[in-house]
Amino acid sequence: MALNVAIDGPVGAGKSSVADEAAKRLGILHLDTGAMYRALGLTALRRGVDPADEKAVTALCLNLPVTVSYSGDGQHTFVEGEDVTGLIRTPEVSMAASTVSRYSEVRKAMVRLQQKLAAETDMLVDGRDICTTVLPRATAKIFLTASPEERARRRFLEMQAKGMPDSYEQVLEELRRRDDQDMHREVEPLRQAEDAVLVDSSNLTFEETVERILAIVEEKRHG
Ligand code: DC
Repeated sequence: MALNVAIDGPVGAGKSSVADEAAKRLGILHLDTGAMYRALGLTALRRGVDPADEKAVTALCLNLPVTVSYSGDGQHTFVEGEDVTGLIRTPEVSMAASTVSRYSEVRKAMVRLQQKLAAETDMLVDGRDICTTVLPRATAKIFLTASPEERARRRFLEMQAKGMPDSYEQVLEELRRRDDQDMHREVEPLRQAEDAVLVDSSNLTFEETVERILAIVEEKRHG
């Protein structure tokens, strides 16, 4: 069986960057599943499909499979052969991704692809339903979180560095809205799997968080 590390958690818990670094140190690939929902959200917005229209979004997803590939700088996400990696990080796409991820047919298609990728290769996979649904038998399962205020603070600093103009209050408000939508949707809401190890990074540095994750993986692998 491939080495699979599963990490779930809410918006802004630092999953992506922590997962990236932990995967690098483990010498395995990092699959960012949020990027796949984002690619679909972006496509809906571009084609004038309302993300709230389940039927239309489902049709779009089934006809337009999202794919990923890897190069020296990590994961690239594609829709119909177009590399959309650089286009999927705006607040508008974040909200659209959260909305389209509510639909059961969309989730089924994404989960199937994620399972296929992880069965073939050693991988660290991060998302919202990885421990619970995508890889319930993963080698190590982690729920990475932090307080909403701390997550919003980190995200705010990240956006400021990119020159995006939102205020801290706007970022916190958007994060609470997305948390609410991700945790209360009918299909596979975000929750901590019973056998996932909780890592609260509110008072941990980036390095401490990565080390904590590597220690959990080590323990699960070698007991
Ligand atoms: O991790 P992220 O912020 O890039 O994810 C974008 C949205 O996609 C998030 O609001 C919820 C959804 N998502 C999901 O439902 N399941 C996943 N495995 C990953 C992301």
